[in-house]
Amino acid sequence: MSGAREPIGVIGTGYVGLVTAAGFAHLGSEVYCIGIDADKIARLQAGEIPIYEPGLAEMVEANRDRLHFSTQIDDALEHARLLFVAVGTPPTYSGDADLSAVRAVVEAIPASDRHALVMKSTVPAGTGASIKRVLAERGKTELAYVSCPEFLKEGSAVKDFLNPDRVVIGDEGDWAGDAVVELYAPLDAALVRTDIASAEMVKLASNAFLATKISFINEIANVCEETGADVIEVARGMGLDERIGHKFLQAGIGFGGSCFPKDVNALKQLAGNSGYHFQLLNAVIEVNELQKRRVIGKLQKHLGSLVGRTICLLGLAFKPNTDDMREASSLVLTARLQADGAKVRVYDPVAEHEARTLIPAVHFASDALDAADGADAVVLVTEWEEFVALDWAQVAGRMAGKLVLDGRNALDVGAIRAAGLTYEGIGRGTLTQVS
Ligand SMILES: NC(=O)c1ccc[n+]([C@@H]2O[C@H](COP(=O)([O-])OP(=O)(O)OC[C@H]3O[C@@H](n4cnc5c(N)ncnc54)[C@H](O)[C@@H]3O)[C@@H](O)[C@H]2O)c1
Repeated sequence: MSGAREPIGVIGTGYVGLVTAAGFAHLGSEVYCIGIDADKIARLQAGEIPIYEPGLAEMVEANRDRLHFSTQIDDALEHARLLFVAVGTPPTYSGDADLSAVRAVVEAIPASDRHALVMKSTVPAGTGASIKRVLAERGKTELAYVSCPEFLKEGSAVKDFLNPDRVVIGDEGDWAGDAVVELYAPLDAALVRTDIASAEMVKLASNAFLATKISFINEIANVCEETGADVIEVARGMGLDERIGHKFLQAGIGFGGSCFPKDVNALKQLAGNSGYHFQLLNAVIEVNELQKRRVIGKLQKHLGSLVGRTICLLGLAFKPNTDDMREASSLVLTARLQADGAKVRVYDPVAEHEARTLIPAVHFASDALDAADGADAVVLVTEWEEFVALDWAQVAGRMAGKLVLDGRNALDVGAIRAAGLTYEGIGRGTLTQVS
């Protein structure tokens, strides 16, 4: 490509597709973004960003002249050799990954010795091999294939694109793998170049490991509640061991999001389909489900029956700095609270639009104080900075009751107590006893 950056195509314009497109445009590539949702593509062409991701709108705006949005895959095929695939792979009823969008893309690419599919979507190990088989059946043997799994985190996706911990590229040692290595070279990241199946497995195993770490500390938190220990102190002491580390040792009300639940399940199913019973992952999933529901028991411990009680949920998105509601703990919580007869008031700084179609019959408040109005208990569900910084005297003034349930162990216990409120966190045995 003699000096100039390689132009690329990006198929799928969601969280991963848009960030990948904007990121490579920022590095100097012409990027041809292809989507199936004509309405969304029209909004992108008009300069509107359909998702909330810090820094993304600015990066798209700064590189508008290099970003081209279209519903026609031919626009990408004409200009680019590398076609990054970033379509969704949601779970099916069986827990396996739904690869129908990936298959649709594979079918849409014509026979060509000039193009390569670069798989960013998270797919089961073995998918690359089966796609290559399908391509061979269709007479598309010359089409190259690269696995390039994505590790960005929603909420810091732009930063993660520019400073990845590693770039994993699985290929067959051909031109396409070399071209993807070249594309990522300016980021100067640790590179793992390997075979396709191993690259696919790095992604699934990484997410499964992180989910395991979360379920582990959540179980430690539950034991702390029985023994009077404080899980924050325990995690602080554990995390200093460099073999363990501090990250993903924050106890809370369970993990959600578009990746962990589905990828853990997909790995469990992948193992099961080949006859291996992945016992550890069964436990990780079950612990997570129970953890979301433990909030109800804590509320009942303080309030008795929840019938007619008003519960305020602060935060709905599965984590701060995103509007993504996929598998958010708030979905299970609202359903359980409503099943127990409670009235639910909710507030989230950016996820309300997404949440309105998913959470029926709750009061969507205009801000945190409005959400706390008349509440018997306030539950921190998503640790947005504005909730951490709340004036608890003002919150107390709006509440009917006194309970603050800190589902993310993120709040200032002293400030909450000074406001005359009762604090309960997750796994904070010592605190609960001295209150
Ligand atoms: N969101 C994350 O944090 C994250 C991180 C790493 C990996 N991943 C993986 O990346 C993939 C995409 O995730 P996402 O969160 O960006 O999903 P998303 O739902 O936000 O976006 C997927 C996009 O693909 C589009 N699409 C579907 N079929 C298409 C087709 N045939 N042609 C063109 N576009 C099509 C959809 O319209 C949608 O815009 C998934 O496999 C996911 O597991 C996601």
